[in-house]
Amino acid sequence: MKKIIFALFVCILCQYTGVFSADFKEGKKMKVLVIFYSRTGNTELVAKTIAQMLNADLRKVEEVKERKGIWGFLSGGIDALKNKCSDIKPVDFDLANYDLVFVGSPIWASKTTPAINAFISKTDFKNKNVVVFFTLGGNSFVGAVKDMTEKIEKKEGKVIGSFAIRSSKTKDEMIEKTKEAVKERCP
Ligand SMILES: Cc1cc2nc3c(=O)[nH]c(=O)nc-3n(C[C@H](O)[C@H](O)[C@H](O)COP(=O)(O)O)c2cc1C
Repeated sequence: MKKIIFALFVCILCQYTGVFSADFKEGKKMKVLVIFYSRTGNTELVAKTIAQMLNADLRKVEEVKERKGIWGFLSGGIDALKNKCSDIKPVDFDLANYDLVFVGSPIWASKTTPAINAFISKTDFKNKNVVVFFTLGGNSFVGAVKDMTEKIEKKEGKVIGSFAIRSSKTKDEMIEKTKEAVKERCP
């Protein structure tokens, strides 16, 4: 009995002096990865803002053959419609190190992009919590969220949140919208 009372006393003392609470905070700290594709910089800006807010690691998915000019635009739309995967450069990450993964893409033809299709197809999301996010020029993002969610769920990931940021005239406006979305919509 004396030992139990002594142990309780030590516990209360440690908590009071912050020893336990510091460990608790450390134990609770989530490791977050933000991974994205961006052709013209909007999704990159959003991804960087999320990474800054959550102190997360950041990785960019890049296509081997960049999509430039009008043909880059047209082929992008056609490939996205066809659910194609493009050739992407190797991305250096290990999902085992993360508790939460944000996957971001521009919306192309109401769908996710071929680069992100390729990234998802190469990645094992088993039991990973994922938040999907998009940037877009228009207003409709439900189809794209559904598209990426289904693709990630096929790879056994668990999509626990989503949001979309409309491209704005100013960077500051996009940063503000991103901050609001992360605070409101993400766990
Ligand atoms: C090929 C292509 C198709 C697009 N299709 C759509 C679309 O269906 N709906 C939409 O709202 N925006 C669409 N957009 C606009 C982009 O989603 C938007 O500009 C996005 O913010 C670009 O992101 P980025 O700068 O990261 O590349 C399209 C853009 C491209 C290049």
